[in-house]
This record gives sequence, structure tokens and C-alpha cells, in this order.
Amino acid sequence: MKDVPGFQYRNGALHADEVPVAAIAEAAGTPTYIYSATAIRDAYQRLDKAFSPLGVKFRYAVKSSPNTHLCRLLHDLGAGMDVVSGGELDRAWLAGAPTKDMVFAGVGKTDEEIKAALDGRFHGLDGVPDLASRKPEERGPVGILNAESTSELERIAYWGKQLGVTPRVCLRVNPDVDPHTHEYTTTGKEENKFGMDAPFIPDIFDQFDGKGVALVGLHVHIGSPVPQVEPYQESVEVLLRLVDEIESRGHQIEVLDLGGGWPINYTEGEVPPLEDYAAGLIPLLSDRVANGLQILMEPGRSIMANSGILVARVQHVKKGRAKTFVICDAGMHSMIRPALYRAYHFVWPVSWSGEAPPFRADTGLPGLEPCDLVGPICETGDFLARNRSLPPMQRGDLVAMFSAGAYGMSMVSNYNDHGRPAEVLVEGNRALMINERQALATVLATESTARELELTAAKVEA
Ligand code: LLP
Repeated sequence: MKDVPGFQYRNGALHADEVPVAAIAEAAGTPTYIYSATAIRDAYQRLDKAFSPLGVKFRYAVKSSPNTHLCRLLHDLGAGMDVVSGGELDRAWLAGAPTKDMVFAGVGKTDEEIKAALDGRFHGLDGVPDLASRKPEERGPVGILNAESTSELERIAYWGKQLGVTPRVCLRVNPDVDPHTHEYTTTGKEENKFGMDAPFIPDIFDQFDGKGVALVGLHVHIGSPVPQVEPYQESVEVLLRLVDEIESRGHQIEVLDLGGGWPINYTEGEVPPLEDYAAGLIPLLSDRVANGLQILMEPGRSIMANSGILVARVQHVKKGRAKTFVICDAGMHSMIRPALYRAYHFVWPVSWSGEAPPFRADTGLPGLEPCDLVGPICETGDFLARNRSLPPMQRGDLVAMFSAGAYGMSMVSNYNDHGRPAEVLVEGNRALMINERQALATVLATESTARELELTAAKVEA
């Protein structure tokens, strides 16, 4: 297997940085997400270097892997945060990110969330110990609110007035570009719910700019993962034509936020050359940047996917006539990507005395068995990997699912009443438990009483 920074087989044992994965599984239990700080730093720095000619500022897509310790690591590397809910805003703040370095996006912001974006507090986080050490100036309006409809713009202007601030807003443009990715993660086509149709944008500037909101730029995010450079180029061209039209009407565009979407190669575990992505955009944008335009990007997957694995323990092995079912303690509740998008993730035993498989998609090794790696959930769609050739495995073995660091933990559920997995961050030869395994008591806490609701008269009559 090609080396991915952070995760390597040494003498037949998978290691995360310097730590044997089996030792982590022993100490933390399974299923557990394991992240490599080395891999995260490496991925971020590669991105930063590729886009340095454009002076891009990165806003880490918190949704891809939201653990506060991971957000803090990204913040320490220089990233701001891209948040899409009040909860993510609080989380990013807890991780040490000042609100001025955040973009707040999302198609369905509630009034409470719009207000939170303008005063920097959602739940207030009372009782959280390390808040006392934070400086008040680090809390306040987010740097940019990305608005997705005129209805939302009206609410943003309303709350700006109530709170005595002028919200800085980018309009999310729907450029009607096909990103050639899964239909569920295609976001920039006309039939998708995201953004506002490009032809409407100049008039919306006329209608709203300077009237309770400062429209400072444009935002676009066409999907994830988007493997080809051309759709990004097409969407940037749409934005640049809009910039010219909007500026000719007397408004000023300070910021273009180009969203996220850069893929990783799940079958080989690499990030396709970021230089290609950068080389596709630099010629389009460099003159504008030289004239003062600020470019933002919101990467998630390209930083986190290869920086994490999910480790599970085999509970049972069932030999069927067609294939062998390796049943483990992780499933669609702990990693939903295979079930939801039929996504491919490479899986392999944590302990493997043979030659390291040269390729992920087709290892070409002798002695393998046709297998499905499945979970305990009562659904046929509950699989981590189907129709794979894997080394024979036994009850008690550990198995690793690779490239699981993005949209893994963030999409877990309590389906069938399983608690959420634990999370461990490896830093050289240290393994830090950054999220304890969730006890079922926590899941059940909100059901502990049946509280009589105080209904208003109107509701009772209806
Ligand atoms: N910005 C916006 C507005 C987004 O909606 C997203 C992802 C990103 C940035 C980050 O995109 P990235 O760099 O991570 O590709 N659950 C799916 C992916 C959903 C992506 C949602 N939005 C999956 O597991 O593949």
C-alpha cells in the first residue's frame, strides 16, 4: 500500500504516527476514530503552499470533522472556520477560533442562528471552563455571513438593526455548473436548493447593499467531492462576470469565497495534485487578487479524509455459500458513507503479516477471500465494504477503514441505540483521547421524563 502520511504498516502492524493501532484499540475500545496530527498538518500545509500565489485564506469546513481538538489544531495552523449552524459556531469558538475569522453558511439559518452570527454566541456556553480565558473581542459578529436567499437577507438586515451592527454578507451564487459527483452532494446546479440563481444576483445587490447589510462579496460551492478542475473554473468564470456587472452598478466586491470540494482518491489514499487545482484557478484570479480581491476557501475533506481511520473489532465471521460476512462492531451508525453514497473505503486488517498490499482497489494478493465487511445494524444497507477480497479474518481481529477522517464521525447516529464512537488524536508517540465513547445514558437522558407541555389556547383550539 502506498504510504499515506500518518498511517503505515510496520512489521505487520498498522501504526498511527508512532503508535500501534492495536494498542489504541485496546486502551480506547472499538469502534474508534483515530486521527494523525502529522497527516493533518501535512495536508493543510500542502493546500496552503499550492494556493499561496493567490494569498488564499482558509476557512476549515468544521462539518467534515468537527471535534474541537481538531478545530484547534487547524486554528493553530492558521485556518479560520466555516460553520453552518449555531452549534458549529459555538464549537469553533470553543476551539479557540475568533468569530471574525469565521464564515457562517447554511441554507436554512434560523433567527437564533442569524443572531448568533451577529453577536457570536449561540447557546452562551455557560459553565464551560476555558471560556473565562478568552478575550471578549474574540467574540462578536462573524467575519462573513453567506446568504442563500432574499428571505434570509431580510432577516439578516432585521437582526443587524436590532443588534446595532452592519452584517458583512456574501451572496451564495448558484452557477448552474455540473460538478460530476454524487447527486446527493451536487450543490451548484439550478435544481439544487443552494444559492441564488446567477442572473438574479446584480439586482439583489441593488436591492440590499447598504440597506442594513454590507454586501461584500460572492460565495460559491458546487459540490463535494469535485474531482475535475473544469467545473471550478466554470463557476469562477460565472462569479467574475457577476463581479464586473455588480461593480459597474457602483457596488464593491472585496471577497470571493470559493467553498470546498477538492477530493481525495479513496481507492489509493492520495489527494490528487493540489497544484492542478491551483494551476486551474490562479490564471483566472491573479490580476483581481493583485487589485485587492481576497479569496477564501472552505476545505474539509482534502485535509481530513486521509488523516483519519476508523478501527473496528470483528465480532463474528459467517461463511455463506456466496461469500464470507465479516461482522464487526462498526457499521452504518458509525460511518454512513458506504450506505448513503455507496462510497468506497479501503479496509484491511490492522495486523497483517503478509506483504503490504500494493494497491487499495485491487490488491492482487494471493490467499484472499471474497467478503462483505458489515456492521451489527438491522439493515441490509449496513455495510462498510462489499464484495472485497480480504485476508481471512477471525473473531477478535481488528480491522481498519482508511480515509475515514472526513464525514465519518460528523455523520454518526445512535441508530439501534449504539453510543457514538470514541475519537483519538495521535501526536508522534502520544495518543490523546479527544472524545470519550458515548454512554447510552447520555442518549437516554432527554427521555428521562414525560413533561406536560404548556399549550397556548390557539394551539388547543386548532
Ligand atoms: N463549503 C460548503 C458550503 C459546503 O457545503 C461544504 C461541504 C464544504 C465547504 C466542504 O467541502 P469539502 O472540502 O469537504 O469537500 N457528506 C458528504 C459530503 C458533504 C459535503 C457537504 N458540504 C460525504 O461524505 O462525501
